[in-house]
Amino acid sequence: MLRVAVVGIGAVGREMVRCLWQSSLPLSEEPIVLARTAREVTIDGKTIQVREANPDAFKGADIVFFAGTEGEKGAAKQFARPAMEQGAIVIDNGSDFRMVEGVPLVVPEVNPDDLEVLRSKGTINLPGVGEVPQKYVANPNCSTIQMVVALKPLHDAAKIKRVIVSTYQAVSGAGSAAIEELEIQAHRILHAQDPGEFKVHPLQIAFNVLAGANWRFEEAGYTNEEWKMVRETRKILHEPELPITVTCVRVPVFNAHAEAIYVELEKPLIADEAREILRNAKGIFVIDEPTQLPDGSAYRSYPMPIDASGKDPVYVGRIRNDPFNPEGLWLWVVADNLRKGAALNAVQIAEEIVSREIVKP
Ligand SMILES: NC(=O)c1ccc[n+]([C@@H]2O[C@H](COP(=O)([O-])OP(=O)(O)OC[C@H]3O[C@@H](n4cnc5c(N)ncnc54)[C@H](OP(=O)(O)O)[C@@H]3O)[C@@H](O)[C@H]2O)c1
Repeated sequence: MLRVAVVGIGAVGREMVRCLWQSSLPLSEEPIVLARTAREVTIDGKTIQVREANPDAFKGADIVFFAGTEGEKGAAKQFARPAMEQGAIVIDNGSDFRMVEGVPLVVPEVNPDDLEVLRSKGTINLPGVGEVPQKYVANPNCSTIQMVVALKPLHDAAKIKRVIVSTYQAVSGAGSAAIEELEIQAHRILHAQDPGEFKVHPLQIAFNVLAGANWRFEEAGYTNEEWKMVRETRKILHEPELPITVTCVRVPVFNAHAEAIYVELEKPLIADEAREILRNAKGIFVIDEPTQLPDGSAYRSYPMPIDASGKDPVYVGRIRNDPFNPEGLWLWVVADNLRKGAALNAVQIAEEIVSREIVKP
C-alpha cells in the first residue's frame, strides 16, 4: 500500500486531493495534507486536516505531490529535499525545475518512458536546493499539457514541422486568489461600482481579455508563460528545435483553458484522417460533429470550457485544413487546467510509476 502527501491546498492542491480520492492508487490511508498554515479544509463536503509543512512531515511517504507556489519561499524549494531524502518520490506542479537537465517532465500519454530515469541510484542538482537523490519528476505547465496530448498523435502520424498557438486561459490557472478576484470584480461591475483593487492580474480581468495577464515579459517580446509552452513542448516531444510560437491570453472564464492550435505537418493529413487519429488517441475526446442549433440552423459541435471543467479528457474540435496550405491543420483544444493541466496529470504520473514498479506499493 502507498502513503502519499500533498503540499499546498490552493486551487491545484484541492483538486489533487479529489484526484487522489478518485484514483486507482492503492492508498493505505488518507493523503497527508500540508500547507503554510494548519487548518481544516472542506472538499466535496468532507473535512480534512491540513498540517503546517515542516521538513519532518514526510517520514514514511512514498510519493509527495507538490502544489505550492514557486520561488525561494515556495514549497518545493523548501521541502523537496527533505521529502526525497526521507525516501519519497516528488511530483511537482511548480515550474522551478522543469527545464533542469535530467529532470523528467512528463505527460503520461506522451513521454511515459522518461520516468525510467527514476530507477537511477544517482543524484540530480536542483538549482537553489543542491544535489538530491534522482527522485524528482516535474509536471508541465497546464497550457503545455493539453497541447502536447493533442499534438503527439499527429506528430506520430505525420510529423509536425511547426506550431502556432493562441491560448484562452481561465483565471483558475493563476490560483485561488485569481478566482476570487474575478468573482469580486464581476460582482462590483454588475453593481455599477469600480472594479476594486487589482491583486493578481495587473489590469481588469472581468469583462475583458488580457494578452499579458499576470505574466512577465521576457525575450523577444514574449511572456514567460509563452516561453514555457515553447521550451516544455520541445522537451516533452524530444524535439529541441521544433519551431513553436505562442500568444497566451487570459480570459474571464473561471476554469478550463482553450487553445487554437495551428500545425504544419510534413505529410499532409486531411481533416477526416486527423479526426480519426485523434478519436483513437489516449486521453482525447473529439467533439466535432455536424449537428443543428435549436433554431434548426446547421452547426458543428465543438468543446467549450463549461464542458471540460471538472472532467478528465483533453477535448478536441474544429479540426479543419488550411484552405491555402495542404500541410496546415487547425485544432481547438479545451481541458480542465486544474485537473489534466495539473492535479490529474500528477496523479497519472504516480499511477505510471506504480504500474512500472518504480515504486512498489
Ligand atoms: N492553477 C493551475 O491551473 C496550475 C496548473 C499547473 C501548475 N500549477 C502550479 O501549481 C502550484 C499551485 O498552484 P495553485 O494555483 O494551487 O496556487 P494557489 O491556489 O495560490 O495555492 C498555493 C498553495 O500553496 C501553499 N504554499 C505556498 N508556499 C508554501 C510553502 N512554502 N510551504 C507549504 N505550502 C505552501 C499555500 O499554502 P496556504 O494555503 O497555507 O497559504 C496554498 O495552499 C503552483 O506552482 C502553480 O504554478 C498551477
